[in-house]
Formats: sequence, C-alpha cells, structure tokens
Amino acid sequence: MRILVTAGPTREAIDPVRFVSNRSSGKMGFAIARAAAGAGHEVTLVAGPVALRTPKGVERVDVVSAEEMSAAVARLAPKCDVLVMAAAPADWRPAVAASHKLKKRDGPPAIDWEPTPDILRRVCARKRPGQFFVGFAAETDHVYREAMRKLRDKGLDAIVANDVSRRDCGMGAEENAATVFTAEGKALEIPRMAKERMARRLVQWIERVRPEKND
Ligand code: CTP
Repeated sequence: MRILVTAGPTREAIDPVRFVSNRSSGKMGFAIARAAAGAGHEVTLVAGPVALRTPKGVERVDVVSAEEMSAAVARLAPKCDVLVMAAAPADWRPAVAASHKLKKRDGPPAIDWEPTPDILRRVCARKRPGQFFVGFAAETDHVYREAMRKLRDKGLDAIVANDVSRRDCGMGAEENAATVFTAEGKALEIPRMAKERMARRLVQWIERVRPEKND
C-alpha cells in the first residue's frame, strides 16, 4: 500500500523569532511510518518541526506551519491508499504574523487568532473509493463520544483515540494507550505499550480492515 503519515506539531508564527506550538513529539507518527515501511509499504511522512531521524525507506517532507502541512497533504493524499493523520497541527494561529520582531518595551502584544485549515476535513471531502483515512483524537474527557463525533464530522474511516489527561501516556510521552473506532463503534483496544509496538499493531489492523481498492 502507499501510506501517507503525518507527524509532530506545527509552529504558527507570531513574529520572525516567536511562535505558538504544542506538546506533540512526533514519536507516534514516526513510529507508524517506520512500522509501515518495515512491513513493506511505500511510505511518505509529512513531518512538522521535530528532531527525529527519518525511518529507513521512508520519504520525508518537512513542513513548519499548519498551512504548509495542509498543502503537502492535499498534494500527496490523492496518490495514497491510506492516510494516517497522527500530527497535531495547531488549531489556531495569529491572524497576522508581525514582519519585525516585537519589542519588549512595547509590552505584551494583543494577538488576534484565526483558525488554521482543518486538514482532515479538506482531504476527506475528496476521498476516493478504496482510500482509507485514519485520524487521531487526543481527548481528556468523554473519549468515546468525542472520537465518534470527530469520525463522523470529518468523514473518517477510523479514529485512534487516546487519553491525554495522563502525562505518562500519549502526547509527548514514550508510551501510549488507545481505542480505535470506526463507524460501527469500538474496533480495537490497544493497552498501554511503547509507541513503536502500538504502531506495529495499528499497521497490522489497517492491513486487515482496509477495503481492497476498486479503481
Ligand atoms: N487535524 C487536522 N487539521 C487541523 C487540526 C487537527 O487535520 N487543523 C487532525 C489531527 O491530525 C487529528 C485530528 O484532526 O488526526 C484531531 O482532531 P481535531 O481537529 O484536533 O479535533 P477538534 O474537533 O478540532 O478538537 P477538539 O474538539 O478536541 O478541540
């Protein structure tokens, strides 16, 4: 299969030296790319700014902002069989990035925020039959309800929900635990384990459930 994976956070510029970002380490997405390439798939990895080594056999496309990630995914998604959107793009960005460094003497800036593009929603709207798109949901409460809502809202085939209220698990951590949902409800429960191992489980599950291409 041709698998497109996204990983890591994005950075949204405030001025030439400052940005807003989040805790995503990129480890889960890189582990999925490594597991998929190890299983013999053709893998492209769209990576936000993280200092992680490119897994062997993986083609890497580096991006910084959510806008850049959106453009890269829109360009690459039509050619993939499977998309795994493990990245944590920022949901908002400063409406205007100052072109000059903001000076401390001018006091704390008032920043107007605007939403970034919802990458998954955009590409799901153009999904072809046979393509299988997987999203991630980082939740602290009502994991099942929120995951099912995102699955339906965005038009996903599956969503991997993890509880990020625990600091030792999920975003930024070495280990993860997750429940995978499809339109039929709970499809797979992955207990707490190293992200590398979880990635192999996820790839095996996708290999099993993804419908055959009919184009
Ligand atoms: N995602 C995306 N584009 C964004 C932000 C997130 O495609 N601008 C993807 C993430 O990669 C992840 C999934 O969407 O696969 C996470 O859902 P998210 O959009 O964060 O859910 P929201 O409904 O925005 O989150 P919440 O209601 O929890 O704030």
